[in-house]
Amino acid sequence: MTRHNPWKQRIKEFFSSWLVSPAELRSYGVLGMNARNIRYIAHYNDRTRYPVVDDKFKTKLAARKANIPVPELLATMDSQAGRKALLHTIEQCEKFVIKPARGSGGKGILVINGRDGDLYVKPSGVRVTTEDVLRHASNILSGLYSLGGKPDRVLVEAMIDFDPALADYSFEGVPDIRIIVFRGFPVMAMLRCSTHASDGKANLHQGAVGVGVDLASGRAIHAVRHGYRVDRHPDTEMPFDKLVVPDWSRVIRLAASCYEMTGLGYLGCDIVLDRKRGPLLLEANARPGLAIQIANGGGLRGRLKMIESLEPEQFEKNVEERVRYSQLIF
Ligand SMILES: Nc1ncnc2c1ncn2[C@@H]1O[C@H](COP(=O)(O)OP(=O)(O)O)[C@@H](O)[C@H]1O
Ligand SMILES: [Mg+2]
Repeated sequence: MTRHNPWKQRIKEFFSSWLVSPAELRSYGVLGMNARNIRYIAHYNDRTRYPVVDDKFKTKLAARKANIPVPELLATMDSQAGRKALLHTIEQCEKFVIKPARGSGGKGILVINGRDGDLYVKPSGVRVTTEDVLRHASNILSGLYSLGGKPDRVLVEAMIDFDPALADYSFEGVPDIRIIVFRGFPVMAMLRCSTHASDGKANLHQGAVGVGVDLASGRAIHAVRHGYRVDRHPDTEMPFDKLVVPDWSRVIRLAASCYEMTGLGYLGCDIVLDRKRGPLLLEANARPGLAIQIANGGGLRGRLKMIESLEPEQFEKNVEERVRYSQLIF
């Protein structure tokens, strides 16, 4: 029995009107799930380094050590005994985000961006009670959203006040920038824009729009939602063709510096742009998804091969040099 592979389905839809075989996909330079897992993740990611990225609390500690700025951590809770302290923290905050330390894909992330008396207001306007928030935290603790269902830790983060230059491109949520970094070289990027459906989260599986971004300039190339091409944001109706990610050179440098921080050869970095603090590392991922290729309308395979073919001394380049090189060749 063959397993349903949503990625192949998307690719079929993307290249619409005809069915594509794996061989044809390879000829487009598209990296598939098996090649990613075997040739890149298993080959270049040292398993002992996974905890640094699989646990967002550990990512924050490692980032602090590496002088990489991250969103402010307001509180953590690792047992039911911490309910009172959690309550105390959220009562003081107008806006905050509660997330599982070991979650992924936007699952279990509760974004609160306002208060209405005793109620907490989500970006969509839906109100939740204190009990709802505490129940959500308990669900996180029990491992409902964690990798492998293991008991987890609750993180409360300050809400990102994102760069106003992106305000028309994201609806009811903070956009983030995903950059794939291979052996320290940025190889592909996309901006992910929240929509009403994605409920304050910029993850594609939650319904956000993925906008491919040119590595050299930070300009939008191509945008997709649920695997289909879109020209405008579905809620704000803003066309993506004029979009340029602000502060692009700092964003891409921050992504490249995550190579030293994590020690992982094949890495996806999620970066947010804070109005005052600039680019911040939201999280890093050792098994980044492949949909970034759809958002860019092009495959990763050729780019990864180019990096693999570099002479050994090229891998001694520092962050600046690696970024300059990537911007030149991709
Ligand atoms: N501190 C925050 N402020 C505002 N939005 C956030 C914050 N943290 C996460 N988000 C939203 O949730 C999305 C997913 O967050 P992330 O930390 O990357 O978790 P996941 O591992 O589930 O992808 C982000 O892209 C962003 O839209
Ligand atoms: Mg993420």
